[in-house]
Amino acid sequence: MRIDKYLTDMGAGTRTEIKKAVRKGQVTVNGRVVSDPGLPYEGGIVFFKGTPFLYEPFAYYMLNKPSGVISATEDRRQKTVLDLIDEPKRRDLFPVGRLDRDTEGLLLVTNDGDLAHRLLSPKKHVDKTYFARVRGLVAAEHRKAFAEGLSVDESFTAMPSEIQLLRTEENENQTELTITIREGKYHQIKRMFASIGMEVLYLKRLRMGPLVLDPSLPPGSYRRLTEEEIRQLKKANFEKGQD
Ligand code: URA
Repeated sequence: MRIDKYLTDMGAGTRTEIKKAVRKGQVTVNGRVVSDPGLPYEGGIVFFKGTPFLYEPFAYYMLNKPSGVISATEDRRQKTVLDLIDEPKRRDLFPVGRLDRDTEGLLLVTNDGDLAHRLLSPKKHVDKTYFARVRGLVAAEHRKAFAEGLSVDESFTAMPSEIQLLRTEENENQTELTITIREGKYHQIKRMFASIGMEVLYLKRLRMGPLVLDPSLPPGSYRRLTEEEIRQLKKANFEKGQD
């Protein structure tokens, strides 16, 4: 691979910026100044303007998605989840699955297509847990209907899902709860509650398979996954929908 491609893939800058930096002697490999951006990269530590760019085949970020940002890689008008990653980043990152614009919480951003495929495959039934505040009083009968597999509309019956009640505000006609679903249909949780006459007022994803949202990450911030989190994700037996 050419040295300029290596650096663009690792997110150092555009090809033009990299060529300019090479001309100015600002790119080194193992301490030696690179004279030609087309030279093949054959290993070693590459510095671009004094910053090391180490090759890594895969990158994994945990993002706490804020409301108002879309789950896409780029958009001409709206802010995307990738715009929130404000460090030099590789160009092949994408969010694993989508959260609605107004939904907050856990989003995995990576370039690992195999892992993403396993997490998203409808056959794998990966558990996803959300915190929700809904308008309406969720009762035992509703929990039972969700647990048995709710008929959402003519074309969609949800797989069994689990609701845990956290708080019931009778005066305000609101319920706070967690819900664990095993699919990822479009607007799934909002549609499930709409089918029992309730509206989701706030939704936040807390968990996806073995990956749990780090409570110290404020909305809009992110961090790299730890080695242990990556290991857990890779070894998870998604077939059973378990961790
Ligand atoms: N269900 C929804 O309705 N919206 C989301 O963003 C995620 C799950």
